[in-house]
Amino acid sequence: MEANFKEKLNQAVKETEAVVYSFLPLEEGCQKTIFEAMNYSVKAGGKRLRPLLMRETYRMFGGKGKEIEPFMAAIEMIHTASLIHDDLPCMDNDELRRGKPTTWKVYGYDMAVLAGDALMIFAFETAAKALAMGADAEAVGRAMGILAEKTGIYGMIGGQTVDVELTGKPVSKEQLDFIYRLKTGALLEASMMIGAVLAGASEEELLAVRNIAADVGLAFQIQDDILDVVSTAEVLGKPVLSDEKNSKTTYVTLEGLDKAKMDVKEISERAVKRLADLSGQNPFLVELVEMLVTREK
Ligand code: IPE
Ligand code: IPE
Ligand code: MG
Ligand code: MG
Ligand code: MG
Repeated sequence: MEANFKEKLNQAVKETEAVVYSFLPLEEGCQKTIFEAMNYSVKAGGKRLRPLLMRETYRMFGGKGKEIEPFMAAIEMIHTASLIHDDLPCMDNDELRRGKPTTWKVYGYDMAVLAGDALMIFAFETAAKALAMGADAEAVGRAMGILAEKTGIYGMIGGQTVDVELTGKPVSKEQLDFIYRLKTGALLEASMMIGAVLAGASEEELLAVRNIAADVGLAFQIQDDILDVVSTAEVLGKPVLSDEKNSKTTYVTLEGLDKAKMDVKEISERAVKRLADLSGQNPFLVELVEMLVTREK
């Protein structure tokens, strides 16, 4: 990674975390435990890729306001909720996440289920705060609709459903593609589309952004499968060989490691090229997408 980009990325992650943390609940009152469980998972770390992609897409289309901030927090809350539930014993049964014991290991199954539910719905409570910041009500409404659709049955939850259902069963390339586009791609689509909508992008631009984000999501999940096989728990902050443990068909088991690596590169390059074709320009966003191919965690 180029030194200059690494510096810019570190700074951007810091800014993003400050934004996300500013919307987290205070840990006080009778239901304190749920606040602690929510904050534990969000603050554990992570690459913060989704709020970053959202902010940079917003900037690419000329967005300059603060109304992007509650949405940045909201997408990271939803993503974190998806990880809390994904790690549960009834799902992937993993004990390490973002370098720390998973939420269910620390707070128990009951609180982990509730913390995931809580983050998902608090995300919408948070996003709605954009209205009080003087944002265009129609754009906020549209952005909230996108957030809901990409989180729910036509998005991440729909994808996780098929992922869980087909565990241990033969999976075709088409089915795997469907799973990846939904379980991972959908939240990346939401991230970039919300940035575009809040910045006032045209319908044509929005569609282009969706297609780019879908590619980013696909490449991202294939790379995740690769890292599950070739990396270490120390580097990833989550267990390796989780997919094998759960008898999951992945891009790597289906296509082999070499082809998986080639496809990540090809799909990312396609996304970068399409990004460059858009009217707005944001070199940092291009670098972020390029990083997906080379990322090691
Ligand atoms: C992990 O996402 C789950 C997938 C969709 C592959 P990330 O790799 O973005 O996880 P964090 O946010 O950095 O922890
Ligand atoms: C999960 O995919 C995608 C989600 C919606 C959370 P994985 O199960 O491969 O994600 P990791 O490897 O546990 O982060
Ligand atoms: Mg999973
Ligand atoms: Mg998992
Ligand atoms: Mg994985």
